[in-house]
Amino acid sequence: MSYNIAIDGPAGAGKSTIAKKIAKKLGYIYVDTGAMYRAMALYLIREKVQPSETEKISAKCREADISIGYENGEQIVYLNGENVNSYIRTEEVGNMASASSPNPDVRKKLVELQQKLAANNDVVMDGRDIGTCVLPNAQVKVYLTADSRVRAERRFQELQAKGEPCDLDTIEKDIIERDRQDMTREISPLTQAEDAVLIDSSHMSIDEVAEAVVALLQPV
Ligand code: DC
Repeated sequence: MSYNIAIDGPAGAGKSTIAKKIAKKLGYIYVDTGAMYRAMALYLIREKVQPSETEKISAKCREADISIGYENGEQIVYLNGENVNSYIRTEEVGNMASASSPNPDVRKKLVELQQKLAANNDVVMDGRDIGTCVLPNAQVKVYLTADSRVRAERRFQELQAKGEPCDLDTIEKDIIERDRQDMTREISPLTQAEDAVLIDSSHMSIDEVAEAVVALLQPV
C-alpha cells in the first residue's frame, strides 16, 4: 500500500516549500495539485472563457488533458501535451484558478487524476481539499496555516527578489480575498480535516515545520 501525506492550507502558508522538502527527504513524489488547477485555468484563459461562464467552463474542461511528470525531481504539468510550468505562476492564472476550481466538472476530473497518483505512489500532496476529499485515508494529514500579514510579507519578499513592483497592503488584501473564495465555496471548501494536525508557521522556520511534519509519520 502506498504512503500518503496530505498538506492543506491557505495560499502562502508554505505548503509547497514544506511538501517538496519532505518528499525529497523521504524519496516520495511531490504532487502540487494547485498547479493542476492552474493548468486548467490557463486552458480556459486561452479559450477566452470568462470566470463567470459556468457552463462554458464545464464544457471546455473536458477538452483539456492534464497530466504530470517529473524532470530532475521537479513536477512538470502538461496541458494537452505541452509543458506549461512557465505560464501558470501569474496572478491572472491564479485568479482564474480560484474562480474556476469551484466548478464540479473541473474538480471531478482533477481529483480522479490525484487519487490515481496517490494510489500508485508514495506521495506528499498539497492543496486545499486533500485531507478532506481527495485522500480521506491519508496516513498523515496536516493543515498548515500562517497569519495573513506574515503570508503577505513572504510573498512581498519573493516578488522583490524577482525585481517585480509590489505593495504589501495590496498583497495582503489579495491573500484575504483568495482565502475567502477558497473557504466559502460550496464544493470542497478549504477547511481543516477533523483528523488533520494544525501547524501555524507564522513564527516557525522552514526546517522547524518540516521536522514537525516528519515527526507525525508512523513507522510502516
Ligand atoms: O495553491 P495554488 O495557489 O497554486 O492554487 C491555485 C488555486 O487552485 C487556488 O485558489 C484554489 C485552487 N485549488 C483547489 O481548489 N484545490 C486544490 N487541491 C488546490 C488548489
